[in-house]
Amino acid sequence: MTGKFISFEGGDGAGKTTQIGKLAERLEAAGTEVVVTREPGGTELGLAIRQALLHGEDLSPRTEALLYAADRAHHIATVVRPALDRGATVITDRYMDSSIAYQGAARGLGMDTIGDLNSWAVDGLMPDLTFLLDLDPVIGATRIGAAKDRLESAGDAFHAQVRRTFLDLAGREPERFVIIDASGSPEQISEEIGMAYGRL
Ligand code: TYD
Repeated sequence: MTGKFISFEGGDGAGKTTQIGKLAERLEAAGTEVVVTREPGGTELGLAIRQALLHGEDLSPRTEALLYAADRAHHIATVVRPALDRGATVITDRYMDSSIAYQGAARGLGMDTIGDLNSWAVDGLMPDLTFLLDLDPVIGATRIGAAKDRLESAGDAFHAQVRRTFLDLAGREPERFVIIDASGSPEQISEEIGMAYGRL
């Protein structure tokens, strides 16, 4: 039996973590086993990689891309696939669309190159469903406040490019993506996500 694989994507400060918690609660109340996880940092090794990526020394774009891909390869092999194999629903806070948007587009490494690298890293595993929490990055930045990590500090043009790329990816795969307007209240957004999930 294979469980459902769901990813949440969006810019920083879009409220993914809150919404993942709410969707997980909803599914658990209906009797589903849910595994909530995240990238980078969904494993012990991943936590070390996350620290290096977000709070360590400056990294070249290629180093950054490879570290995200290494985190993802290990995460999929040791957490996500085993959970899907036993029939659990897995919800991940970010997946390879983040690498395509941040490293492929905003860092300029190329969307196809980063897509290929990551497909290889996870042996082709794609989400059944991706919620894109779309938000003006200027609003996202005010939600985050002053304590910014290395990626969050990358500047307005960078984050505008990330947003455009997510929307572009969603347009290319409308059957996988659900675009959610993340400017509303957490309750409104959760309602919309629940409705979209129920329709699938
Ligand atoms: P996230 O855990 O969502 O941030 P936080 O918990 O601090 O809100 O993601 C950490 C950062 O890493 C975020 O700025 C996006 C970036 N990122 C990439 O650049 N590429 C990737 O492949 C992933 C998964 C995240």
